Amino acid sequence: MSTPKSKSHAVFLPYPAQGHINPMLKLAKLLHHSKAFHITFINTEFNHNRLLRSRGPNSVRSLPDFRFETIPDGLPQSDQDATQDIPALCEATRRTCPDKLKELILRIEKEDGVPPVTCIVADGAMGFAVYPAKELGLPVFLFFTTSACGFLGYLNYAQLVKRGYTPFKDESFFTNGYLDTPLDWVDGMNNVRLRDLPSFIQTTDPDDIMVNINIKQCEDDAPHATGIILNTFEDLEHDVLHAIRSRLPNTYTVGPISPLVRCIPKSDPIASIGSNLWKEDTGCMEWLDKQVAASVVYVNFGSIAVMTAEQLLEFAWGLAGSMHPFLWVVRADLVQGSNAVLPKEFLEEIEGRGVMVGWCNQEEVLAHRAIGGFLNHCGWNSTIESIYEGVPMICWPFFAEQPTNCKYLCNEWGMGMEIGGNVKRGEVEAMVRELMDGEKGKEMRKRAGEWKDKARAAIMAGGSSYNNLDKLVEQMNQFN
Ligand code: UDX
Repeated sequence: MSTPKSKSHAVFLPYPAQGHINPMLKLAKLLHHSKAFHITFINTEFNHNRLLRSRGPNSVRSLPDFRFETIPDGLPQSDQDATQDIPALCEATRRTCPDKLKELILRIEKEDGVPPVTCIVADGAMGFAVYPAKELGLPVFLFFTTSACGFLGYLNYAQLVKRGYTPFKDESFFTNGYLDTPLDWVDGMNNVRLRDLPSFIQTTDPDDIMVNINIKQCEDDAPHATGIILNTFEDLEHDVLHAIRSRLPNTYTVGPISPLVRCIPKSDPIASIGSNLWKEDTGCMEWLDKQVAASVVYVNFGSIAVMTAEQLLEFAWGLAGSMHPFLWVVRADLVQGSNAVLPKEFLEEIEGRGVMVGWCNQEEVLAHRAIGGFLNHCGWNSTIESIYEGVPMICWPFFAEQPTNCKYLCNEWGMGMEIGGNVKRGEVEAMVRELMDGEKGKEMRKRAGEWKDKARAAIMAGGSSYNNLDKLVEQMNQFN
């Protein structure tokens, strides 16, 4: 008599930053809930401790078939509640985690009740997982948590170096118009300029960590993966996806991933597992309930972006001057090198009209009927969450592939307008007024509504992302 086949067992390895853990955890929950996978979800020790502090023990308590494990990230120990240094973390994880991952898999497979590991789902930024996986004979699916356009930007990094666009010859190249150089040879992108590609190429350093690591991920790691996963949908990034698939044919678009997870009933213990590394404020939802429909500007710059104290003030007075109600997430570490403190006169001026919190449940906020626009940094999760809710955006891209997302939001998808990097209060005020009351804002809201419908169609039964998720699971199950 043959023994019954055990569940497929996927080991998840997110890059240890908020914008990566969120979509990875969602995919893990989805595979567990809808597709009956056994899941092992690996956090770094640093983030595990942060989750314990921000969400309490339930957020990382293992269930029989959804287990949390930890590995060190390779950086010196710290108990700060702030985002770690990204280049240092990239280097340290690449150096430390391959061996730790292998040891962990060999250890958990010996434990009672744990089925043999059948695949690894690693963040694209942890692409080195393909090497220990090879030694263990396991397939790896790489989840690049950026937009497809951002990912295509990274896929062109090696060419940019080869063709001599980067490293820049000297500092003058940042300001002499060089960034406006058109790149008409980039397959899958129209009217793209150097400044629109992921920001790490804007360097004079031939040994730049982020350039070299992104080249490794795209040229060396990704071709070893059994499949590539992206949190986007076909209609949104059709041409870009075509170009990506010419190099990586097994690319699955399964987004927007967040709303799929909301279908998990509250009675399922995994529904309460969350990944916010900062403690959420809930009072802002009650405040939103009291506001007029589509009247509030929501402002949030994600988990990594930082600004100067001057920029903080320009945003503050611009929002105050717009006369619109606003909800602004001011992270404790939003201002470089100091606490984000707003002056008393500003707080008096906006009393009753503006609310500031340290962190919120962004998806709930974006889904609230009171939200009329979103001023943000174009992080991909925020962007796709905003697209799903049909909320038009003012874009202040900070780094990484955020300039690429900004270009697509403004020029291709028609639901964003960009604010200058050297932000001024008058510009903030004028843009918020345009977004909320102006003709351009009206047109952007209409386009955002169209994308919202397409995003919803993609994840409904028979939609492209719905079907791709099925195909992805089918491929994952082949290894069981
Ligand atoms: C970034 C970006 O994803 C990406 O552009 C880049 O490659 C590196 O990582 P981050 O800057 O944090 O991440 O932005 P974003 O992608 O928008 O992710 C933030 C996540 O945190 C979103 O899922 C958002 O819903 C959540 N969030 C943010 C909250 O739940 N509450 C908050 O107050 C702020």
